[in-house]
Amino acid sequence: MTAPTTKPLTLDRLLQSQGYGTRRWCQEMIAAGALEMDGETITDYRHKVRPEAHQYRVEGQPMTWRAQVYLALYKPAGYECSRKASHHPGIHTLLPEQMTWREVQPVGRLDHDTTGLLLLSDDGAFIHRQASPRHHVSKVYLATTQEAVTPALVALLLNGVKLHDEPAPLAARSCRQVGSHQVEMVLAEGKYHQVKRMLAAAGNHCTALIRTRIGGLTLDSLGLEPGGWCHLDAAQLALLTPG
Ligand code: URA
Repeated sequence: MTAPTTKPLTLDRLLQSQGYGTRRWCQEMIAAGALEMDGETITDYRHKVRPEAHQYRVEGQPMTWRAQVYLALYKPAGYECSRKASHHPGIHTLLPEQMTWREVQPVGRLDHDTTGLLLLSDDGAFIHRQASPRHHVSKVYLATTQEAVTPALVALLLNGVKLHDEPAPLAARSCRQVGSHQVEMVLAEGKYHQVKRMLAAAGNHCTALIRTRIGGLTLDSLGLEPGGWCHLDAAQLALLTPG
């Protein structure tokens, strides 16, 4: 994670960095009196400040300056993770417009019909690290199946199943039956449609899928409703580091 900068910024650049629009637009907003700093309206956008040293309101709403943003979203069904969503609305529509201006990206993808925990950030190094197979952060999925779950299915998923475009069989790190038609799988990788393809290769079919945990960060601990999102603090981010 990037440490907060102490480099002074002009107020237009400060607002721009937080996703309030183009530099020109931010200049106009400030000149029109939209920015309050430490309780005072400042209309000179050339004024230089250390961003983290002040409190701000933009159009009356509190704004916490953040060098970078790290978000958790409870992805609902019916949303696409791709940048140019085509068949369903994009996950970006669930976030404030500032996040689009900040070019917040998801860490990996969930299928349009998969729900659950999705991380997003505008920190490219963080996204790269989290998505890298070498990072080895486990992901936990709860899958609902069409056919009843059997001990043989669990054994197959644990021992590894061959997927047609994968050179080696893929196995769950751990796997347990949690209902007559539900299985919880812990995966080390994030291959395309991995849970659904592993279940299909094991002779069953996934009818619903939710990601409940990434590393040590559980969806439940965040208290989000489907479609809800929150900023992650340092302690929550530390749970995403293997170790
Ligand atoms: N595995 C899948 O099959 N789909 C997802 O969205 C995530 C993991």
